[in-house]
Amino acid sequence: MEVGKGYYEISASIRSLKRETENVYSAVLSAGNEMGSSVPGQFINVQVSQEFNSPVLRRPFAVSSVNGNEFEFIFSVVGRGTKLLAGMLENQKIINVLGPLGNGFIDGNAERKLLIAGGLGIAPLKRLADHFHGMNIPVTILWGNRTSGDFFDTVHYNRENTVIICSTDDGSAGFKGNVLDLLKNELGSGNIGSLNSYDIFAVGPDPMMRSVAEFVERNNVRCQISLETPMACGMGVCQGCAVKKRSGEGYYLVCKDGPVFYSDQIVF
Ligand SMILES: Cc1cc2nc3c(=O)[nH]c(=O)nc-3n(C[C@H](O)[C@H](O)[C@H](O)COP(=O)(O)OP(=O)(O)OC[C@H]3O[C@@H](n4cnc5c(N)ncnc54)[C@H](O)[C@@H]3O)c2cc1C
Ligand code: FES
Repeated sequence: MEVGKGYYEISASIRSLKRETENVYSAVLSAGNEMGSSVPGQFINVQVSQEFNSPVLRRPFAVSSVNGNEFEFIFSVVGRGTKLLAGMLENQKIINVLGPLGNGFIDGNAERKLLIAGGLGIAPLKRLADHFHGMNIPVTILWGNRTSGDFFDTVHYNRENTVIICSTDDGSAGFKGNVLDLLKNELGSGNIGSLNSYDIFAVGPDPMMRSVAEFVERNNVRCQISLETPMACGMGVCQGCAVKKRSGEGYYLVCKDGPVFYSDQIVF
């Protein structure tokens, strides 16, 4: 049922739930073709409890892949809502989803793309990487995690025109350091060319996106980021997800104006 301009309330069938790491799950749902016209970077707001009057209603997640009538999201269990969600996906057949919501990434004109993921920032970037792969555009993915056990499904990116380079804070896999250190290292070694020859996309925790944005802006480039501000309605009604505009007065609503922004549009 279409409940707003371009988004639907969907009773989706739960096709699979896979444990990717100790805390991270990927879920595949199927419905009609509601996600067919969605773009990378858009998200869904998932009902995590069927209890009437439950204080925990919906939680937002990036759509990480769309394949015909099936779509995937990847989530980390961090609190009450995501714990309930994991239980629902395990025990129910149907789950209620609102989507596709928000505005997604803009492709850009550069002939190559640089995707920088911190932790589960890989979720929306997976779909973006698939999108560019389908267009035969070269993609370099930098993916940073705390430790080797946080990586999953890296084989997905072992394909022509895609390079994935990993880092860990503790040095247990790939480059030792955070993903910004990795970016600097790859620039220094020439594996990554001049930043202004790429469209750059960065998704991860706020401090990671802020530091990547500051670094690329110092190099006179900006990047697209996707904010994960806590949300209630997800549809522009409650004003609960406001983020300050960098120039001019006022605020953007992350759910409606974002979650994707250019780094120089907002104050972190
Ligand atoms: C547009 C959008 C897309 C998102 N995509 C994904 C995704 O693809 N995969 C995924 O795992 N998560 C994603 N998130 C974050 C996810 O919605 C939250 O992790 C989830 O709502 C937490 O619910 P909870 O009840 O389990 O946690 P809570 O009980 O609400 O919080 C538990 C802990 O997590 C922290 N927390 C809660 N929400 C966030 C947040 N948004 N960012 C950082 N810390 C938070 C809290 O401060 C607290 O410490 C996205 C958020 C937005 C807005
Ligand atoms: S979450 Fe309600 S306005 Fe954005």
